Amino acid sequence: MRSKIVAGNWKMNKNLTETETLLAALSAKLPDTEAEVMVAPTYINLTSAVRHLESSPIEVIAQNMHFAESGAYTGEISADMLLNVGIDTVIIGHSERRAYFGETDEILAKKVTAALAKGLRVMFCFGEELEDRKSENHFSVVQSQLKNALFSVDANSWSKIILAYEPVWAIGTGETASPEQAQEMHAFIRKTITEAYDTSIANNVSILYGGSVKPANAVEIFSKPDVDGGLIGGAALNADDFVAIIKAI
Ligand code: 13P
Repeated sequence: MRSKIVAGNWKMNKNLTETETLLAALSAKLPDTEAEVMVAPTYINLTSAVRHLESSPIEVIAQNMHFAESGAYTGEISADMLLNVGIDTVIIGHSERRAYFGETDEILAKKVTAALAKGLRVMFCFGEELEDRKSENHFSVVQSQLKNALFSVDANSWSKIILAYEPVWAIGTGETASPEQAQEMHAFIRKTITEAYDTSIANNVSILYGGSVKPANAVEIFSKPDVDGGLIGGAALNADDFVAIIKAI
């Protein structure tokens, strides 16, 4: 079912003390909303965050996972480990993982398959770089990211997929895609999914926009018909800003 979602990707920010302080502030200020609200703290604080939010509607999600079941992968975390601490949604394919940690479409496809096989929900991130947009290749880049890493997923698994379109040039730069650019791409994504699967899957998947979403621009971006919410970086680190963005939806 297509739902509204506001998710905060905390990236490598907030130690344990800061995590608990931010979660307490968020819980206290959380507005009434039909949207799903999610936060993705760093791995070592997931357990504490889950406990902290036990009686809260805020869902704790993970920023990444490894595709292997278990084994000699120093520094990595498996799907089972996430499930075991109460996580049921994982972000896969963030542009920072692609750019700084060499995660290719092939690796991401394995991660998506492994996460779904374990019953996790996948928030799949993708988006073009500035050069792609300048050369007007942004549609084909997005299309190939989806085809190569996601479209081997069977039709039944799409109920467990959330998409997050994050143009790399808008992440952490203060430069946002215009609401029209976001809408244009989101509509293109639905068309691409319709061609690969069918209209029902395309219409039921939530597609979030990410990249410099702030309280000041959230209402306009979220008002577009194919934008179902946002994946928020910097502004999710501040309770008042994140709450303002939740209110915007
Ligand atoms: P910013 O909101 O800081 O641009 O980050 C977006 C992002 O990468 C969320 O995953």
